[in-house]
Amino acid sequence: MEDLNNKVVVITGASSGLGAETARQLVAQGAKVALGARRMDRLKELVAELGPENASAFAVDVTRQTEVEAFVADAKSKWGKIDAMLHNAGVMPLAPLAMKRVDEWDQCIDVNLKGVLYGIGAVLPIMQEQGFGQNLFVSSVAGHVINPAGAVYCATKFGVRAIAEALRQEVKQYGPLRTTILSPGAVDTELPGSVKAEGVHEAIAGFYEDQAIPASSFGRAVLFALSQPADVDINEILFRPTKQDM
Ligand SMILES: NC(=O)c1ccc[n+]([C@@H]2O[C@H](COP(=O)([O-])OP(=O)(O)OC[C@H]3O[C@@H](n4cnc5c(N)ncnc54)[C@H](OP(=O)(O)O)[C@@H]3O)[C@@H](O)[C@H]2O)c1
Repeated sequence: MEDLNNKVVVITGASSGLGAETARQLVAQGAKVALGARRMDRLKELVAELGPENASAFAVDVTRQTEVEAFVADAKSKWGKIDAMLHNAGVMPLAPLAMKRVDEWDQCIDVNLKGVLYGIGAVLPIMQEQGFGQNLFVSSVAGHVINPAGAVYCATKFGVRAIAEALRQEVKQYGPLRTTILSPGAVDTELPGSVKAEGVHEAIAGFYEDQAIPASSFGRAVLFALSQPADVDINEILFRPTKQDM
């Protein structure tokens, strides 16, 4: 395994859940992390916990392209390089299509798909110029399996996998640029809170309560993908709680 000491990792959606836990695990390995999300109070608490010599915070709404560009530029100027970017910010507003929750359709597509595209757009020129870099994308079991109430969320997570695979194929000429898709099953985070639709919210809360595994599972998968030598590209990791059936 390669040493992660002084590797610089940019993380969207770092204010809670998978992003925050991964930041903790990375800093424990000696990495530096640039944390982005909308809730700056949460990010500041995390920077205080990790130490300002190891972590920086930036307020970013990933649905706004100029903010994503500013976040990535800030990370590069603070830390001098970007070894990897974890495109992690996401929402999961599950609901049957017949409920016609148009605002949630828009939000889900804007955060989970357009936010990811804006992240690539911001970081790729830096990685091309450096001649190295790794983009890690957070899809889901819902990027492999479709369920009722999951139409839009699944579409975004299938879409993330399509974008990541296209990126993998497109960047060969720029040096060792690697592309990793992480597809977790139920992991204990704040994500079920983004399910607001009556009936669905209760079902998802119960499912997570029964089955979800700790966020440390995800952090270990990220560390595994990041710790490979430059000629090894871990393209996809799909994992579930052992209890989870679908
Ligand atoms: N937990 C699971 O079971 C699971 C399973 C499969 C995939 N995933 C995926 O994992 C990723 C992380 O989710 P999580 O489980 O850690 O949930 P979480 O605890 O709710 O974290 C979601 C993160 O996304 C950020 N975010 C949401 N909207 C944003 C926006 N417009 N701009 C910037 N940041 C935004 C939130 O920060 P702010 O609210 O502070 O902006 C938060 O930091 C998501 O892509 C999710 O789809 C999770």
